Amino acid sequence: MNANITRRGNEILVNENFDNGYALRGLLSAVHKATTEEKLSDVVLNFKHCSHVEQGPMVFVCAQILKHREHGINFELIAPEIPELQRLFRNTNWAHFIDPKVETFRSDGLEHLPATQYQDSTEQGRAVDKIVKVILGAIPQMGRRSLVAFEWSINEITDNVLTHSESPVGGLVQVQTFARDRKAQFVVADAGVGIPRTLREGYPTLTRDEDALEKAISEGVTSNKKRGQGNGLYGSYQMCGQGQGEFELHSGYASLTFVPQRKKPLRATNEGLPCNGTLVAVTIDFSKPQLLEEALRFQGRKHEPNFLKPYEQSCDGDMCFKLVDESPSFGSRMAGKPVRTKLLNLYGMHSSGRISIDLSNVPIMSSSFADEVFGKLFLEVGAVGFMRRFELMNVEDIVRHIIDKAIAQRVSTGVAD
Ligand SMILES: Nc1ncnc2c1ncn2[C@@H]1O[C@H](COP(=O)(O)OP(=O)(O)OP(=O)(O)O)[C@@H](O)[C@H]1O
Ligand SMILES: [Mg+2]
Repeated sequence: MNANITRRGNEILVNENFDNGYALRGLLSAVHKATTEEKLSDVVLNFKHCSHVEQGPMVFVCAQILKHREHGINFELIAPEIPELQRLFRNTNWAHFIDPKVETFRSDGLEHLPATQYQDSTEQGRAVDKIVKVILGAIPQMGRRSLVAFEWSINEITDNVLTHSESPVGGLVQVQTFARDRKAQFVVADAGVGIPRTLREGYPTLTRDEDALEKAISEGVTSNKKRGQGNGLYGSYQMCGQGQGEFELHSGYASLTFVPQRKKPLRATNEGLPCNGTLVAVTIDFSKPQLLEEALRFQGRKHEPNFLKPYEQSCDGDMCFKLVDESPSFGSRMAGKPVRTKLLNLYGMHSSGRISIDLSNVPIMSSSFADEVFGKLFLEVGAVGFMRRFELMNVEDIVRHIIDKAIAQRVSTGVAD
């Protein structure tokens, strides 16, 4: 057994890090032994002494647990004792997926997306919309073309779960952003039949799982030419190859990793223990926007982006930004920052159009939120730019007063960030 993962009765202990494929497969194997071989129906996952985690392995474990729960197996969580990790388990919804007694965490409008389950294309579409908004609010100076490429990739990878995996619990998706490095990582996990199995339908001679994963990321490779074109994994992998992006796949007995700094960036390995399902982790470097789009130049359908539609519809100006849909609250700087980043990104994407900011159903706003959004925005784009490109609609008197004051104060200090 993996020394990092040990057993004590019905308890499975994660003793150190849970941040790589090795630890993931160790834990899955322990869960398999406890539930399938020993037929235990109550299992405790003990992360008390765990010191570091990554979202990919965690999301994969959550998907597996959802499947086990469908078979009547219950899991209890012992959370890490390090307070930041404890919070992370709650805020990412891992705690909820492991043990549904823990309530879900709702974080619309923040800079990360907690693990989110989707089981049909409507739920998938909703998750993708949310994710694109998270990126729009988290990464400054996001070009339109970068976001189009990102939206394409997240659509493809999440769609693969519904099209190919036969996962009884659908998929889980989670997103983390790294504003300073201008990167984002999304992970998608399912508890389905895995890439090697589906790909063998089209390529029956593929015996080794590691060969199947390498094949799956090649251009035009699909298990069924009538249904797909074999672009999703290939295009996403190509996008990660630009700048400092990374790509990781775990499915069946194999893993495939692409790390640009390595001597041999692409590596496919047989891990000796299975992952029943698929985990895809895509890290995109947004610092080279034209390269991202370049990566998607292969034969195939053209992706029509969706993310601008909600802003471009139902509005007098060229774009309409309904504040009530863009932030979970109007009370803090933390809530205000992603709103300002979104507005600045939309401002940059639309070179001359007007953006109407609709403040209906916003009865009150804190001065710190108003400063973070309007004060700093005013200073960044300048008085003329602000007046030419932004318009405030449906503003309550008291809110107008707070915004006016925030802008005046910010202008008098002259410091944007
Ligand atoms: N989550 C998954 N579960 C099982 N098999 C998968 C999964 N994702 C991808 N695959 C396998 O990998 C193959 C390649 O996937 P890819 O997205 O590149 O192409 P496609 O889905 O077949 O076609 P397209 O994406 O162009 O519609 C699929 O045909 C399928 O066999
Ligand atoms: Mg696909």
